[in-house]
Amino acid sequence: PDAAVVVVAAGSGTRLGRAEPKAFVSVMGRPLLAYALDAVFGMDRPVQVVVVAPPGFLAEARAIGEDVAGSASGHLRVVVGGATRQSSVAAGLAALDPAIEVVLVHDAARALAPSGLHDAVVAAVRESGVGAVPGLAVVDTIKRVNAAGGILGTVDRSELSAVQTPQGFPRDLLEAAYAASSKEFTDDAALVASAGGTVRIVPGDPLAFKVTTSWDLRRAEQLLAPEAR
Ligand code: C5P
Repeated sequence: PDAAVVVVAAGSGTRLGRAEPKAFVSVMGRPLLAYALDAVFGMDRPVQVVVVAPPGFLAEARAIGEDVAGSASGHLRVVVGGATRQSSVAAGLAALDPAIEVVLVHDAARALAPSGLHDAVVAAVRESGVGAVPGLAVVDTIKRVNAAGGILGTVDRSELSAVQTPQGFPRDLLEAAYAASSKEFTDDAALVASAGGTVRIVPGDPLAFKVTTSWDLRRAEQLLAPEAR
């Protein structure tokens, strides 16, 4: 393959209120990481897959990955993550094969993101030669507020996009941005932009929502329940 997906699964998921790290929480009998990998191994063309796992979960992540990958497990690597999402992504990038030219970074917590979204992001990066990230229009009216609950203003939502993962980049652009960055960003698009790289929005998918709270976990359960399909 000349494309790779780095699946970051090394977060603790404290907001979910479970003992196990978020990517290892089971929904309908399977861990979130397994669903995230279903989509990656279901892409149109084979990709290298790097799973970034929490310390102590390497063997479990490998077992989950091999189970999903089947005969494609030669394309799977599992590495240990860091204390922040950004350091976990950096650990994943260090495990890329030399032939890789396009890299997607995906949150395992966005477990229901479909294969087609991954394919579309790869295609957008290949066509444009710059970064591509999925985004959805913001439907709520967004207020800028202060700590006391005072409203300072209303943000023009036509200028806003709620961005998701997988976020895709030419490999050299992403690696150069990681090499140059000394501060923490909340996503890879912001890190690449801070290094002067161009990143464009492609259409997102509601299924790529991030499982963060127990409410999100219920939503995932409902979407995966046999009667919902
Ligand atoms: O915490 P949050 O849901 O924003 O994390 C987004 C993704 O980044 C999750 O899939 C999580 O496992 C991953 N992450 C990581 N290493 C960290 C923190 C988060 O791989 N140190």
